[in-house]
Amino acid sequence: MQYEKYGPLSKWGDETRAYKRNIAWEGNVIEQLGTILKDIKGYNHKLRILAPAANNGHEELSLAKTLSNLLHRKIRMRTSDIATMSHAGFYQDAQVTFTYEQRDAYDLPKYLDERQDAIYDPKGILWFTMGQEKKLLKALRLYYDLLEDDGVIIIDAGETRKLLHAYNVLRLNFFMSLTYYAEISTYERLRKCFSTGSQASLLFTIELVPNLSGPYGMAILRKIPAAQEITA
Ligand SMILES: C[S@@+](CC[C@H](N)C(=O)[O-])C[C@H]1O[C@@H](n2cnc3c(N)ncnc32)[C@H](O)[C@@H]1O
Repeated sequence: MQYEKYGPLSKWGDETRAYKRNIAWEGNVIEQLGTILKDIKGYNHKLRILAPAANNGHEELSLAKTLSNLLHRKIRMRTSDIATMSHAGFYQDAQVTFTYEQRDAYDLPKYLDERQDAIYDPKGILWFTMGQEKKLLKALRLYYDLLEDDGVIIIDAGETRKLLHAYNVLRLNFFMSLTYYAEISTYERLRKCFSTGSQASLLFTIELVPNLSGPYGMAILRKIPAAQEITA
């Protein structure tokens, strides 16, 4: 697995997150993320967020704390990743409970005892389907079953800049810091699979989050309750 400790992209997580810190990514997207999440189930409900390909989980821990402050809501953030790496540890305060486990996302149904309100999946499981419909439907069906009926999937939708992506892949391979993302966004990979009448569009709608652009772009998939049974 190329993201594992000594794999060619082992620095991906650190470098991408350093780049996101440099561009104050969290501060720029947090209001919009809050707008998406604030109405789910009402103020008194503990917001359950799952990040199943969280890499080292540090970004998710920070997001959980910031979102909880912003929304004045309790957050239960479950993170996991298939690869072995050093990662964020258990964290708990009055508002936030955060856990990290090493797991294959496709095994999560065996371990989760409740449905989730949101799945945070930037460059994660959906991204790894490479926009191939069969793989995408398998991943969407997994997420469909893990989510509440009003549940959402949050993905990255940074603007595509092909030359900059290629340049930054080179930089990653030479252990240099990133000047932009080294890969196209999850949204860019998936959107063609959501044409009207497609199998994916029977499970989820997909839309860009308003007022976010450039490296801050994000998109949201909303579960369509009572979707027809689709076998992947
Ligand atoms: C490109 S990184 C993105 C990490 C994180 N979502 C982020 O935005 O920083 C992709 C991650 O997905 C993980 N991954 C790939 N397949 C997985 C699977 N089946 N289950 C869990 N994690 C997986 C990899 O180990 C890697 O850490």
